Amino acid sequence: PIVSAEKFVKAARENGYAVGGFNTNNLEWTQAILRAAEAKQAPVLIQTSMGAGKYMGGYKTARAIVENLVESMNITVPVAIHLDHGHYDDALECIEVGYTSVMFDGSHLPIDENLELARKVVDLAHAKGVSVEAEVGTIGGEEDGIIGDGELAPIEDAVAMVETGIDFLAAGIGNIHGPYPENWKGLHLDHLEKLVEAVPGFPIVLHGGSGIPDDQIQAAIKLGVAKVNVNTECQIAFAKATRAFAAEYEANEADYDAKKLFDPRKFLAPGVKAIQEAVEERIDVFGSANKA
Ligand code: G3H
Ligand code: ZN
Repeated sequence: PIVSAEKFVKAARENGYAVGGFNTNNLEWTQAILRAAEAKQAPVLIQTSMGAGKYMGGYKTARAIVENLVESMNITVPVAIHLDHGHYDDALECIEVGYTSVMFDGSHLPIDENLELARKVVDLAHAKGVSVEAEVGTIGGEEDGIIGDGELAPIEDAVAMVETGIDFLAAGIGNIHGPYPENWKGLHLDHLEKLVEAVPGFPIVLHGGSGIPDDQIQAAIKLGVAKVNVNTECQIAFAKATRAFAAEYEANEADYDAKKLFDPRKFLAPGVKAIQEAVEERIDVFGSANKA
C-alpha cells in the first residue's frame, strides 16, 4: 500500500536498519523499484527530484504512476511516494497532489529561513498525514542543478531543525551526490555520532548513497541513519546494461531486427532488470529485507 514514510522510517531507526529512498524517472524505473521492494519484502520510498517530477509530466502524473502501479502490481509492502530535495513551493504542490512524503530542502538558505519554511511545510504536511524530511549542512556535489559544497551539519542547526517537528533529518556528514572522487576522505562518522547524541533516537537520512563503501554505510546505519538515498547507482546500472545490449544488438543486427528487439519493451528490458538487481542489492546492504 501507499503510506506516509513516518512509521516505517521510525521503525527502521528503532530496530537498527535503514530503508532505501530510490529515485525514479519513469514508468519502467518505478516498476523496477517496486518489483525489488516486493521481492525483498522491504518498505521503500520511491522519490522524484523536482527535475524528475517535471520529466515525468508533473508531480500529479508521477504520483499517479506510483499509486496505480502499487495497485496493479499487487504490491503488499509499504511504499511512500516522496519528493526529493524540494523547494518550498514544490513541497506544497506535492502535498496537494497526494505525495505521502516530502523533503523540503532549504539547506542553501540562511538557517533561520530554512527553519521557518520547514515549520510551515510540517504544519501543512502533517495536517494531511504526509511525512517531512529537511536538511541541515549540505550534501556535496550536484543534483538537478542544485550544487552543495558539502558543509558538515552544525549540531545546533540539527537540534533546531528536529524541533520544527520534521520526521527525518538529512545531514551533511561528508557525503556527496553522484560518483565519489578518488580522493574522497570517507564519511565523517565521528560527526554523525555527535549529531546522534544531540538528537537521540531521531532518524537521520544519508544522501549520496551511491558509491559509499558498504562497511561505511552500515557503520552509519548502526549510529542512527534510517534512510539511505540512492539515485546515481541505478542510473549507472541502467546505462551499463543498456549500452551492453546495444553493443550486442550492433553485432547481431539482422537477427535482432528479425526478432523485433527494437521494440522498447524488449530494448529497455536489460536496463530495467539491472535497476531491479541494484535496488535488491542495496536493500540487503541496508538491512531492510523482510521488514515490511
Ligand atoms: O537525493 C538523492 C540522493 O542523495 C542520491 O544520491 O545519486 O549519489 O545516489 P546519489
Ligand atoms: Zn540527495
